[in-house]
Amino acid sequence: MTKKLFIKTWGCQMNVYDSARMADVLAPLGYQPVDEPDGADMVILNTCHIREKAAEKVFSELGRLRILKDGKAAAAARGETDGQDGRMILAVAGCVAQAEGEEIVARAPFVDMVFGPQTYHTLPEMVAKASRAAGSVLNTDFPAESKFDFLPEEAASQGVSAFLAVQEGCDKFCTFCVVPYTRGAEFSRPAAQILAEARRLVAGGTREINLLGQNVNAWHGDGPDGGSWGLGRLVRELAEIDGLERIRYTTSHPRDMDDDLIRAHAEVPQLMPYLHLPVQAGSDRILAAMNRKHTADDYRRLVDRLRTAKPDLALSGDFIVGFPGESDADFAATLKLVTEVGYAQAYTFKYSPRPGTPAAVDGAQLSEEVKEARLAALQQLINAQQVAFNHGFIGRTVPVLFDRVGRRSGQLLGRSPWMQSVHAEANERLLGRIVTVRVDAALANSLAGTVATGEFSTSAIGPSSIGLAPTGPVTQTLEASA
Ligand code: SAH
Ligand code: SF4
Ligand code: F3S
Repeated sequence: MTKKLFIKTWGCQMNVYDSARMADVLAPLGYQPVDEPDGADMVILNTCHIREKAAEKVFSELGRLRILKDGKAAAAARGETDGQDGRMILAVAGCVAQAEGEEIVARAPFVDMVFGPQTYHTLPEMVAKASRAAGSVLNTDFPAESKFDFLPEEAASQGVSAFLAVQEGCDKFCTFCVVPYTRGAEFSRPAAQILAEARRLVAGGTREINLLGQNVNAWHGDGPDGGSWGLGRLVRELAEIDGLERIRYTTSHPRDMDDDLIRAHAEVPQLMPYLHLPVQAGSDRILAAMNRKHTADDYRRLVDRLRTAKPDLALSGDFIVGFPGESDADFAATLKLVTEVGYAQAYTFKYSPRPGTPAAVDGAQLSEEVKEARLAALQQLINAQQVAFNHGFIGRTVPVLFDRVGRRSGQLLGRSPWMQSVHAEANERLLGRIVTVRVDAALANSLAGTVATGEFSTSAIGPSSIGLAPTGPVTQTLEASA
């Protein structure tokens, strides 16, 4: 009998990917995904612990779900559920489960299963146990075996653009971050496993693969040829797969960007000219306190090398403002770095003290007001860069991989090589194809265009012509934050 499975996902791409993997594991047990929790046989909250209030959000969600769970049981007791057992298995997975598993079990005993990111391949056993026993099943182990050796193959079709996890976990221990604790040590999947999965995805219609990892460019492995491979080599091998038109990877750490990967950006046409390369801050003092193990100038030099290899490379980043002890001068150094580098887009966060991390017990925590003001100033600068970047495309043609139908009928949606969303009037038979689109307008978060004929050429596009050059004076933004 089919059972209804509802999964709610917070957090990063890896969590989105994991939720799909959990659905794959549960499918042979009869669980089919549904769009709402009401009446579901199993509800999984796949949680994120990266910033504040994560745990509180989970508890308030659990409060709402408890009502649905009790309601379903009561309906079954009244004989209103078509002979079904009236049980709703409630589960908490992901990084909050890993970090706060015991607290969840103590505060919400009506939760049936609490389990961390490295245990998803054992879901069938956990479900069997939860069905037998009263009380919660708690599993926050870091098992010796790799879950990737036990997870079932991905469902045959993952769509035009698919994610493929190649690396998980982190050994970097930035002083603000919970990921090394919630995901565990760095692990790289074997190259042969990744290549086989990529071939299957492409055979199922995938045209673009986004390689996923918490520190994806730390990926390393023994190649099928016996040699030791880095991510650059893996990208080159993936590029050999017929029908795989685009390759991306995320998220990278500046320290793991090696020469071969940089060369791959110059040499592999399928590798897209867009790189998420977080730097977090522009002050060397703060970078050291964050344990990033590189300076702002190291990052500048790296960006130069990347742009020498790939002049039209668009960069994206992550920034934390208000790290403990961050002075006005430190923050000014972040604005300066952003101005010099020029981002196509970036994510900005107020520092959030995370339990169990070194920075959380630093005495020099900053006020909410300071964090807010700095966030606003940084966002203003980055928004201006994003707008300039997108406006630089008006009148140009870009190759767009259409991967979705748009909200308006007759419209398709896809991405440019630089990760911009592009929509255009287009026939549905162009779904899954790379089509030349002339950009007519740049909106806040997307480009609007018209399907054009003719060949696309990247050669006419340089960093300044696509708005990568610094935008406006930094001093204005500094005044705004004062
Ligand atoms: N592995 C990646 C991403 C980690 S989490 C990397 O090294 O870049 C994604 C982003 O969340 C981080 O890049 C950082 O900018 C932000 N982040 C992590 N911990 C945070 C915290 N305690 N407070 C605010 N932002 C945080
Ligand atoms: Fe967190 Fe730093 Fe690891 Fe990224 S590199 S996951 S920010 S500890
Ligand atoms: Fe969040 Fe865990 Fe991803 S803390 S950002 S879900 S690795």
